[in-house]
Amino acid sequence: MTTPIDLRSDNTAGAEPYVLEALAAVNHGTAASYGDDEVTARLQRRVSEVFERPAHVFGVVSGTAANALGLSALCPPWGAVVCHESAHVAVNEAAATSMFADGAPLLGLAGEGSRLTTDAVAACFARTGWGDPHQSQPSVLTVTQATEMGEVYEPDEIGALAELARSRGLRVHLDGARFANAVAALGCAPADLTWRAGVEVLSLGATKNGTVTADAIVTFDDDVAAQLTYRLKRAGHVASKGRFVAAQLDAYLAEDRWLASARRANAAMARLLAGLAELGHHPQPAARANIAFLPVPDDVAARWVDAGLLFYGIEPGVVRLVTSWATTDAEVDEALARVRAVSR
Ligand SMILES: Cc1ncc(COP(=O)(O)O)c(C=O)c1O
Repeated sequence: MTTPIDLRSDNTAGAEPYVLEALAAVNHGTAASYGDDEVTARLQRRVSEVFERPAHVFGVVSGTAANALGLSALCPPWGAVVCHESAHVAVNEAAATSMFADGAPLLGLAGEGSRLTTDAVAACFARTGWGDPHQSQPSVLTVTQATEMGEVYEPDEIGALAELARSRGLRVHLDGARFANAVAALGCAPADLTWRAGVEVLSLGATKNGTVTADAIVTFDDDVAAQLTYRLKRAGHVASKGRFVAAQLDAYLAEDRWLASARRANAAMARLLAGLAELGHHPQPAARANIAFLPVPDDVAARWVDAGLLFYGIEPGVVRLVTSWATTDAEVDEALARVRAVSR
């Protein structure tokens, strides 16, 4: 039987060995519970170093929890969350943000690929009845970095969106399910894509890039952090054995390992796309991270499936390919060889 090559999602990969070693390393003796331990304190220091300023970090088990709880701390009960219409928070999180944010609606804006533009945000503001108690008031802007379709926003693009949002009193959140891949693709500092650009809360994203069960909310705002302490507890996201969550995230961020993992995932995608381009297949939009959407006729996609490639058909004529920290050059080359073989 042909060994399948898995390009379905970065969630299908296992955990980075260094994360498992870190878990084993904290699995001895006893430690104070609920995050009152040394490993959690070390993680707090580590996050502040990585982001070059005092920051608060809260471990959670999923990107959905990070988004919903982070956004809930930014949005008043009468507020609305502004996002791209294809944002994961809007279409793939079962209204978790609305549930945790007192019913806040998500205002999805159109835009090429899954990119938000200042024009679209300005148009949304222009049609808002500011101060009208009959209307939810846009209160938070959430931007996905890297985008759901594998593009990245440059730091000045995030800055322009955040500046516009803040000019109308909105707070700014980043869904960083693939934040590491964006930082790696851009070669900039994590601070450049967050607080320096006006972002107050970040869903860090870590499970797709090497942890087992640890994602995180990072915030640079003390008041948001104070709220999150209670919001996480109410949502059941304060792990009693918090050191095991912190150990994963601490190992992940130490020595820039998270960026090394993301660079591997991005490089695997670049290699794959270079090979597919030779065969006439090009991503739309151009992908810079580890996820790509390609127009591929259904009969061709069916041959790729028969050749043992695992991937998702997003809609008729469009396939999504995703690489991870664990995707090897050999797997990419084998995938390309199989595509080539069924293209003849
Ligand atoms: C852009 C984006 N945000 C958030 C999430 C949510 O992560 P999780 O599935 O861990 O809840 C995902 C997962 O696919 C995602 O792609």
